[in-house]
Amino acid sequence: MSSVRFAPARRLRGEVVAPPDKSISHRAALLGAMSAEPVRISNYLRAADTLSTLRALRAVGTLVEEHADAVVVRGSGLREAREPGGPIDVGNAGTLMRLLPGWLAAQEGRIFVLDGDSSIRRRPVDRIAAPLALMGAQIEASGGRFPPFVVYGTRLHAITYELPVPSAQVKSCILLAGLGADGTTSVVEPVPSRDHTERMLAGAGVAVQRDGRAVRVTCTDELDAQSLVVPGDVSSAAFMIAAGVLVRGSRLLVRDVGVNWTRTGFLRILERMGAIVIGGLEAPAATVAVSEPVSDIDVTAGPLQGTVVEPAEVPLAIDELPLVALLGCFAEGETVVRGAQELRVKESDRIAGVVEGLRGLGATIEATDDGFVVTGAGGGGLRGGVIDARGDHRMAMLGAVAGLASQEGVEVVGMEAAAVSYPGFAEDLARLA
Ligand code: S3P
Repeated sequence: MSSVRFAPARRLRGEVVAPPDKSISHRAALLGAMSAEPVRISNYLRAADTLSTLRALRAVGTLVEEHADAVVVRGSGLREAREPGGPIDVGNAGTLMRLLPGWLAAQEGRIFVLDGDSSIRRRPVDRIAAPLALMGAQIEASGGRFPPFVVYGTRLHAITYELPVPSAQVKSCILLAGLGADGTTSVVEPVPSRDHTERMLAGAGVAVQRDGRAVRVTCTDELDAQSLVVPGDVSSAAFMIAAGVLVRGSRLLVRDVGVNWTRTGFLRILERMGAIVIGGLEAPAATVAVSEPVSDIDVTAGPLQGTVVEPAEVPLAIDELPLVALLGCFAEGETVVRGAQELRVKESDRIAGVVEGLRGLGATIEATDDGFVVTGAGGGGLRGGVIDARGDHRMAMLGAVAGLASQEGVEVVGMEAAAVSYPGFAEDLARLA
């Protein structure tokens, strides 16, 4: 495990290109595998998680060519995934673990075993097993809940499914299964979550409809995805943006960021806290768009004030909520996050990790069942110290940003975890500092 110290920075200046989007890369490769024609994916994220996806797809018979400027995926079609000789290793990738079974469940008579690292073995799969069972497939999981788990492919039938928790991963799993099911499958979300799957399916010729809280897809024979371009990852960019906001006198331009409205909740929270975000953020919409909007983002900030993040906002900023806690340490007044119990089942328990981690750096922060309450020190900020990434990429990057903004610097134990979504993160940060 590597420990890296991040010293207080005087100011950050310059431009950085956001790394390719992790969520969209996973989906693009999967759609390629489900297509009968080759799909060319430009700007595919080459990070641990999305390389796990390429490896998993090869295991089920997809040909993947990795070129310098693109990944070309030659799939076998919607109903032709091959049964692999052994377990499919999803590594640390929760998105892969939840989305891939949607496709595999429709492979009649074939059996697939999925497993991953120690963090994956703590992440629930009953949330996909329940709807897939209603569609006719079967998932057997360890203790009924955790990986390793087995997917028994079968002929699926369409369902209408009300999601008990807002989860784009579960929604996507059901929509992918719906492509291979008889009839029209409908997923009803309590509140909107990221809609990359819907956009990409619409772009591949599938009739995807949104009707209020419901998203519908109908059984399809073929996908026509052809070529896809992955935008920059706003969740990775968020760490740079937060560093730029917290280190006084900074001026940063983050280039080529995906600004799909279902992903930019963090930027809207930042605006409420007093930052000025300059960039072409997409406006919320009730219908399914096809393309993914991209913009350069420039954020400036004066003094920050605390804010309340309500449950409906949580899915739109889910992976950035640890950063909201960090920003809260530097704000006047209280910052409260509610309705975010999902944070407990991410790559690590991010409520415990954020609260114990930031407290160790001098923050005043309390955990609640479904979030946290931070009492800001305003200009006083954070002292610094040591934080454990707990094997979680976003916790590692949180510690690094905290270090730059702190009085005494922060040592991040397990910094290598950042490579799960943002290889080169520490180098990009060092260049800006
Ligand atoms: C993701 C959705 C979110 C997010 C995860 C990626 C996706 O998970 O936290 O990092 O790509 O669909 P949930 O949808 O399960 O909340």
